[in-house]
Amino acid sequence: MISPLKISGYLLFLSTVTCLVVVLKSEAKQSKTINVPYTLWVYTPVNYSKTIKVAVPFNTTFYDVMLQAQLQDPVYNFTATPYDWGMYIDQIAGYQQNNEKEIYWWIYDLDCKPDMKNPPDVNQLSPVGVSEIRVKKGRHYLFWYRHIENTH
Ligand SMILES: *[C@@H]1O[C@H](CO)[C@@H](O)[C@H](O)[C@H]1NC(C)=O
Ligand SMILES: *[C@@H]1O[C@H](CO)[C@@H](O)[C@H](O)[C@H]1NC(C)=O
Ligand SMILES: *[C@@H]1O[C@H](CO)[C@@H](O)[C@H](O)[C@H]1NC(C)=O
Repeated sequence: MISPLKISGYLLFLSTVTCLVVVLKSEAKQSKTINVPYTLWVYTPVNYSKTIKVAVPFNTTFYDVMLQAQLQDPVYNFTATPYDWGMYIDQIAGYQQNNEKEIYWWIYDLDCKPDMKNPPDVNQLSPVGVSEIRVKKGRHYLFWYRHIENTH
């Protein structure tokens, strides 16, 4: 006959194994890499466009995506100024923000690929800066060099 002690030992073993599987599964989920589409648009109407896909771990900041993109393709080079709230992007791909003409880089957080025929509006601007954006699967990130009008 199997003693109750053996049974509880077996159950303990089973639950430990189950627990381990759950832990491994959730770790796999967290370290899962995602391909983040990152598009550049220049001017309105857009006369320069480029998209790159950057493989990063889930929940990486968009700023880290930008650093990675820059390593993959030098066109994605940028300059940033650090503030209390995070990094402020003032130049990408050689396009420097122009205070006089009020042309800046605007970051859009989109649920689909940006479409020039139906460009995103002010409601699709990211409410937070690049250091605070946590990239998610299925999102498309657009940096658009454009005039301040229609952006607020
Ligand atoms: C793109 O548009 C800007 C602003 O309208 C203009 O100054 C520039 O010459 C254009 N560039 C090209 C390559 O068409
Ligand atoms: C994403 O990372 C931040 C900062 O490390 C953390 O506070 C947050 O809980 C993470 N979110 C998810 C869904 O993992
Ligand atoms: C940054 O990108 C622009 C546009 O492609 C290019 O002209 C410039 O040389 C690049 N700068 C660096 C440092 O790679």
